[in-house]
Amino acid sequence: MAKNVLVTGGAGYIGSHTVLQLLLGGFRVVVVDNLDNSSRTALDRVRELAGEHGPNLSFHEFDLRDKPALEKLFASTKFDAVIHFAGLKAVGESVQKPLLYYNNNLIGTITLLEVMDAHGCKKLVFSSSATVYGWPKEVPCTEDFPVCAMNPYGRTKLFIEEICRDVYRADPEWKIMLLRYFNPVGAHPSGCIGEDPRGIPNNLMPFVQQVAVGRRPALTVYGTDYSTKDGTGVRDYIHVVDLADGHIAALQKLDEPGIGCEVYNLGTGKGTSVLEMVAAFEKASGKKIPLVMAGRRPGDAEIVYASTENAERELNWKTKYGIEEMCRDQWNWASKNPYGYGSPDSTD
Ligand code: NAD
Ligand code: UD1
Repeated sequence: MAKNVLVTGGAGYIGSHTVLQLLLGGFRVVVVDNLDNSSRTALDRVRELAGEHGPNLSFHEFDLRDKPALEKLFASTKFDAVIHFAGLKAVGESVQKPLLYYNNNLIGTITLLEVMDAHGCKKLVFSSSATVYGWPKEVPCTEDFPVCAMNPYGRTKLFIEEICRDVYRADPEWKIMLLRYFNPVGAHPSGCIGEDPRGIPNNLMPFVQQVAVGRRPALTVYGTDYSTKDGTGVRDYIHVVDLADGHIAALQKLDEPGIGCEVYNLGTGKGTSVLEMVAAFEKASGKKIPLVMAGRRPGDAEIVYASTENAERELNWKTKYGIEEMCRDQWNWASKNPYGYGSPDSTD
């Protein structure tokens, strides 16, 4: 019997790629998403890309905080596990509107955990973030590094990690994977699904992509005086398809004996600077990205990259793609969909 997986936030960037890999892997997938930061079109395309597996996807548009709706869903379907992506993720907005972030991310998660518990579904994979390492004292970051929060968004990740640990302590029947993602970039190689942020992108590659298609005049490089090879910030960029596959590995791990509440980094273990990333994108796209050099962005760390040892050993998962493929697939998506899932009129 195919396993049933509930994917919250499955219409979003990482969610849509993970849903596709799940379908191709033979899972039955139910997505709950309020489409606050995503489009139904993403799931239509996932269904097409999944071919014969497409009919194994169903979608429910509602907010995770809508407990009666979630109850109804759990009453009608027996889920083997839940992958929980749904949440707000814009760091700057979280500083401006902390209550919005605490309400959405924390109440959404607590409601989900309550309903799962009530229905005896106690297997969870949660999207945490490398943001919990703050400005790490050394690299690579291992999972036992001290954690901290630099902003309300990051605090929601820390709180949810702690909530999950408490839930497990109170009831060891729970099996939970806290996955700390580094910097997801790129898109499915088909160019049919990818990242489509609303408004001005906060993250590097969506911004670069919008410059390349002529939606923005130049990339502002935040900080040129870091102690790095070229003075710009260094991050661990991971292809979103590799990241999606990491979720399948985590899901399989949940079935092994002895699993409690575990934490794994999902990254490549390699650091790349802003200028290296821009150069790789220029090569992949043949487009020149005009740069404006600027001061550091508040709250930014200098160098962050993952130790991937634990994930490689225990999840039996390893990234396949490098910067070249990330930029190739990002450009393929951008050139085919310069306005993401929307039209020039529906976005700024
Ligand atoms: P995304 O915004 O594309 O996807 C999140 C999805 O959740 C969206 O489709 C949104 O509509 C939905 N959603 C939000 N609140 C909801 C609610 N209350 N009820 C139902 N649906 C809701 O973001 P993403 O990049 O795919 O990120 C997915 C998860 O991974 C998030 O939790 C994010 O914090 C985490 N994460 C992302 C990154 C990154 O760089 N993209 C890095 C680390 C962690
Ligand atoms: C940011 C978030 C972090 C979140 C992560 C993934 C902040 C302070 N941190 O981290 O909480 O987990 O995204 O979603 O927002 N850069 C530019 N110009 C730009 C954008 C970025 O030079 O227009 C630089 C940054 O200074 C950084 C690198 O590019 O050195 C990567 O930035 P970004 O993609 O925003 O990711 P993080 O900084 O890792």
